[in-house]
Amino acid sequence: MPKIKIEGGHKLTGTVTVSGAKNSVVALIPAAILCDETVTISNVPNITDVDDLENILVHLNAKINREDGKVEINSSDIVNKEITESLSKKLRASYYFMGALLGKFNKVDMYFPGGCAIGARPINLHLKGFELLGAKITEEDNHFIIEADKLKGNNIYLDFPSVGATINIMLAAVKAKGKTIIDNAAQEPEIVNIATFLNNMGAKIKGAGTSTITITGVKYLHSCFHEVIPDRIEAGTYLIIGALLGHNLKIDNMIPNHLEALIAKLTEAGVGMEIGLDNVIINEVKDYKSIEVKTLVYPGFPTDLQQVMTTFLTQCKGKSTVEETIYENRFQNIKELKKMGAKANIRKDNRKATIKGKTELHSADVIATDLRGGASLLVAALVAEGTSTIDNIAYILRGYDRIVEKLTQVGAKIEII
Ligand code: EPZ
Repeated sequence: MPKIKIEGGHKLTGTVTVSGAKNSVVALIPAAILCDETVTISNVPNITDVDDLENILVHLNAKINREDGKVEINSSDIVNKEITESLSKKLRASYYFMGALLGKFNKVDMYFPGGCAIGARPINLHLKGFELLGAKITEEDNHFIIEADKLKGNNIYLDFPSVGATINIMLAAVKAKGKTIIDNAAQEPEIVNIATFLNNMGAKIKGAGTSTITITGVKYLHSCFHEVIPDRIEAGTYLIIGALLGHNLKIDNMIPNHLEALIAKLTEAGVGMEIGLDNVIINEVKDYKSIEVKTLVYPGFPTDLQQVMTTFLTQCKGKSTVEETIYENRFQNIKELKKMGAKANIRKDNRKATIKGKTELHSADVIATDLRGGASLLVAALVAEGTSTIDNIAYILRGYDRIVEKLTQVGAKIEII
């Protein structure tokens, strides 16, 4: 199995360019099949999640061609057949084919999605939405058949502002008869990116980015050209790396106000940043103050940056705390961080961790437990004295476009062995 090898302690200077958002493009690609013509999506990141979605489209006989960051999709010959368990399990976002195929054909036949083991991650809210739109669901050991004679708009209240459920219901509702209102909808920027894509095709979606989204069904969706927004989690990861090792490190092609919570917390810890329109320049300073971090739905502190932030907190003087309110099992990276010298304890309900700093991190051979957990180990290895290796790096490559090349370009000693 390939590993990432890192010689830590090198200052990083220059420019890192952020790629398109994984958590947007993994919804845009399934959404594209709703179009009755060809659609083009640009600023597509070069990550394995996109490869896995491409394989599902090919399996369904959709036409897709992908070159230098652009994806062109035409679904006029698409065949609505079962999406096999192995294809469904490759990633969490395969479940967007539920909303897209239901929205296009009033039927979908597939398996429970994959995704990082950071919690149970049920899809009950997605299924509740589909049922309220008139679909019947039969499920037998993770095999779902969801179908409707016709989909009719309805009022859907989400018990939790689930990102996936919000998007999936939008996909199923765009061609349903009449009006659908999603209450307590998630407000993440990726949801706005999907809604804009569908509206560019002629859909009628209002309120994306707020907690109430209204979708009025339309019959036909025409071709359009759309761009993936910058990845705020990738950008946030590089901001944290810059806070620890940056010398005039510029994080470019990002949207600072998508990272208000992170920027506020880093500022509270004493990080100095020059915030531009689509970039941030960041310099490490010697001592940072300990802080308290609590993950919340957008615009709160993003759960996807919780694990990388934990690595930053090992370098903050005093006792910091991290409370994870979104997932029940998102501290698995801490046992690996402790191999590098981190001083951390997890409360027995596995929802809160205390991190003592400032600790000198030292090299170790560690194993990525999930995508963002792997990123937290990579950041720790960049800081640690000596040479570390990280195993299970497929997790990391799922969500960080060309991370080895981008870090090498700014002076990191990092390679895949
Ligand atoms: C998306 O996952 C992201 N993944 C996650 O990023 C991100 O952590 C999450 O949103 C929250 O921001 C993609 O976009 C592909 P949720 P999603 O539905 O849609 C519970 C990463 O590292 N829930 O908002 O699955 C669920 O168990 C990944 O890039 C239900 O109980 O997130 C979780 O505890 C990790 N029932 C919470 O809600 C449901 O029907 C948040 O889930 C749906 C969700």
